[in-house]
Amino acid sequence: MLNKFIAIIVFCFFFKSSFGQKITYYEHIAPIIRNKCAPCHRPGEAGPFSLLTYADVAKRVSFIRDVVESGFMPPWKPDNHYRIFANDRSLTNQEKKTIISWIENKAPEGVSKNGEPETDNLISGTQYTRKPDITLKVKKAFVVKGDNEERFIVFKIPFEMTTAKNVAAIEFVSANKKIIHHANFAIHPVADNIDINQAADFVNLTDESRVNYDQYLPFKKEMTYYGGWIPGTSFESYPADLGWVMPKRGVILLTIHYAPLAKDEEDISGINLFFKETPIKRVVNVVSLGSGGVGESSIDPYFMIQADSVKKFNLKILTPQDQSLLYIWPHMHLLGKSFKSYAVTAAGDTIKLISIPAWDFRWQEIYRFNKLIKVPKGSVLTIEGTYDNTKENPNNPNNPPKMVFSANDMKSTDEMLTMLLVFLKYEEGDEYKSLDALESRKK
Ligand code: HEC
Repeated sequence: MLNKFIAIIVFCFFFKSSFGQKITYYEHIAPIIRNKCAPCHRPGEAGPFSLLTYADVAKRVSFIRDVVESGFMPPWKPDNHYRIFANDRSLTNQEKKTIISWIENKAPEGVSKNGEPETDNLISGTQYTRKPDITLKVKKAFVVKGDNEERFIVFKIPFEMTTAKNVAAIEFVSANKKIIHHANFAIHPVADNIDINQAADFVNLTDESRVNYDQYLPFKKEMTYYGGWIPGTSFESYPADLGWVMPKRGVILLTIHYAPLAKDEEDISGINLFFKETPIKRVVNVVSLGSGGVGESSIDPYFMIQADSVKKFNLKILTPQDQSLLYIWPHMHLLGKSFKSYAVTAAGDTIKLISIPAWDFRWQEIYRFNKLIKVPKGSVLTIEGTYDNTKENPNNPNNPPKMVFSANDMKSTDEMLTMLLVFLKYEEGDEYKSLDALESRKK
């Protein structure tokens, strides 16, 4: 009897603490918003408004409810049943429920212990967890003309440091991310006998003769690393003894594709680098597969998307050595409908890599695996992309639809089936190495 009585008291206590508690902004909502929304919704980032204070959030609650319920925000496109990634920014079901109940209960503010919520997990000018050691950026603000034309500009960013540096993380930065469709950068080491300050600061591939680009050829003899940015992309970082070495001297060639604008806007873009003192025992590589990269001519069938068709292509590539994958970056343009990649080992086992069932050009990311993924030598890596070139595709840039190819211009009206892999040569035990805890924001 007494036991039963105690059990009831314990039950009531439990019930009160877990269900009777009032959800308030400072106690429950701010931590979610800070981790899952504010990285983009703050000054200088891609979101159209800040979500840093109670006032910022409270005045948009019905809007926030809509985007959270529909899953539009935070943007996260991969199918989490196919594979889970370490840099997943989607809301858990519990987080969704908490936000929605809070809004249904009239979004109470609650009491803050020390004023506005801490934002020390967010560092101005970066998505990473600390300030960059160096930012290599263009010399002068570039004015993008407001004449409703897309523009491709290649910027030259020369650099010279005291020594070569071990890279812990790298990210693209810009003062005006909202006007950028995408950016690619390549880091070229340059020998001492070549002047890194020669040649123009930028070449405007849209308005100038393409021959002007040739002035950059002397810098392009070697390449250390390359990467890119698309809305939604954060940074790339590596575990302690992995990474690559930033050369002491060289040139970064940064190609930016600016969106068509109705009025002039300025931009200053560049690269943030985060260094580490620990030695790099294993060098990380990056490879681009498909359009514009390895295996381009093996895309099957020939990469051509007829008007009014929905068409599927695939690319199969043999893995030449045992590899360990760190990151995967699928890329298609506006006609993209779905994307999938997997590897089949010689023994017939399937290694699921990524599936994006409803492709959305606006949200792309360098997806980080939650542990190193071993792909054994002899595995066939498959990339599958489906494209919708009908007028039912609301993102189709052509009305009526037109035949589309992959062209070197890489305009958003052309198409691509591309996938970047960041990988290492496999070593025993890699498949147990976690990439989850690489850097976590302060919770
Ligand atoms: C990866 C960056 C990123 C993250 C993370 C993110 N947003 Fe956004 N958000 C954006 C961008 C960019 C837009 C503008 C999108 C557009 O206009 O298509 C946007 C738009 C919105 C809008 C306006 C939608 C509309 O229809 O115009 C709301 C509301 C919003 N976000 C809320 C949130 C909330 C709440 C979270 C967290 C739960 C969140 N966002 C997380 C980048 C982000």
